[in-house]
Amino acid sequence: MTDSPNLGFDTLQVHAGARPDPATGARQVPIYQTTAYVFRDADHAAALFNLQEVGYIYSRLTNPTVAALQERIATLEGGAGAVCCSSGHAAQIMALFPLMQPGCNIVASSRLYGGTVTQFSQTIKRFGWSAIFVDFDDHAAVKAAINDKTRAVFCETIANPGGHISDLDAISAISDDAGIPLIVDNTSATPYLCRPIEHGATLVVHSTTKYLTGNGTVTGGCVVDSGKFDWSANDKFASLSAPEPAYHGMTFAETFGPLAFTFHSIAVGLRDLGMTMNPQAAHYTLMGIETLSLRMDRHVQNAKTVATWLEADPRVDYVTYAGLDSSPYAGLVPKICPKGAGALFTVAVKGGYDACIKLVDNLNIFSHVANLGDTRSLIIHSASTTHRQLSPEQQEAAGAGPNIVRLSIGIEDANDLIADLDQALSAATS
Ligand SMILES: Cc1ncc(COP(=O)(O)O)c(C=O)c1O
Repeated sequence: MTDSPNLGFDTLQVHAGARPDPATGARQVPIYQTTAYVFRDADHAAALFNLQEVGYIYSRLTNPTVAALQERIATLEGGAGAVCCSSGHAAQIMALFPLMQPGCNIVASSRLYGGTVTQFSQTIKRFGWSAIFVDFDDHAAVKAAINDKTRAVFCETIANPGGHISDLDAISAISDDAGIPLIVDNTSATPYLCRPIEHGATLVVHSTTKYLTGNGTVTGGCVVDSGKFDWSANDKFASLSAPEPAYHGMTFAETFGPLAFTFHSIAVGLRDLGMTMNPQAAHYTLMGIETLSLRMDRHVQNAKTVATWLEADPRVDYVTYAGLDSSPYAGLVPKICPKGAGALFTVAVKGGYDACIKLVDNLNIFSHVANLGDTRSLIIHSASTTHRQLSPEQQEAAGAGPNIVRLSIGIEDANDLIADLDQALSAATS
């Protein structure tokens, strides 16, 4: 009743996936701090292991606290199912795992979180996978990059670090034409600002570490399945459409229909890759999501105020916030993120690399950390930290050149944030 998809977002963020605990009546979702679950009898155990009955076996696969979070995120995103895992990076591997084979590739946006660029350009090569990076504003280039070995298209709704917005409708039209899934990292937007499935995404990935938890306490990730992709339309996605030897030849697409990807991610992905979210982390993230819409409204309001002030400041070259009228992405905001362009953007500081270093060292309220999406305002000089493994060309393509700092605007008093930036910019550029 309380998780009916017809309820409003503010109601669902508090109630979806959570019911009074059947054993105790506990109103809050308990932290089920257990590794294993007692089987009713041997037949019950066999049915669970054969995937003939859904239930709890072992917490590497499923846990009731994590399950509540999965249901909540799936509901907020408008997905059929979701699987949580240990980090956002784990979620990206979990999303790709059922789709890829050695020799296959993904077509990915060149504007991605630096760690994702490294994961896709370096680490996945060890699995025999590769990534083709393209400017996703150039839709013809995205289309041209897809070949017969492409198994997914990947982009961020609001790209880290620049806050650039992807035209998900246009990109999903291209992936649909090619018969391959679109995976959207919705970390910086959250389902409050954008629901990528409504714009044609097949899978949505999150670093729940960021806004969903919102308080900088735990790392986590999530893959949400739209349940809308036909995995059996061709022979490209054999893990989902062909008989699975580890389950007596069962076919996930046939047996689980719109939940095929989710069941595969639990029964094969978590079972064998083991990138499991622990119940304590799920608890903190459930707590965070209860206030998601309230926080995101304030994040957006503060980001707009701070970005407007920075843009007018002579010590600043430019600000990339898509919520500014001057942004080339301003036209996409009403379509993709109608409640606001998020709270993540970059600032080009006059004085280049040295001024950026002085700026981060002189701020008092802003914390210099490798994180975003906290209630606290955060800053980082990407070129010397998160994006330092990238080549100068990749840094420029990702909007993380040496003269750039990234801001994640928190929910403090906007005037205090402006005063802090004002004094630190003076110290940095004097
Ligand atoms: C947009 C985005 N996606 C994914 C990740 C990776 O998430 P995690 O740090 O939880 O692995 C990050 C981390 O900063 C991110 O900003």
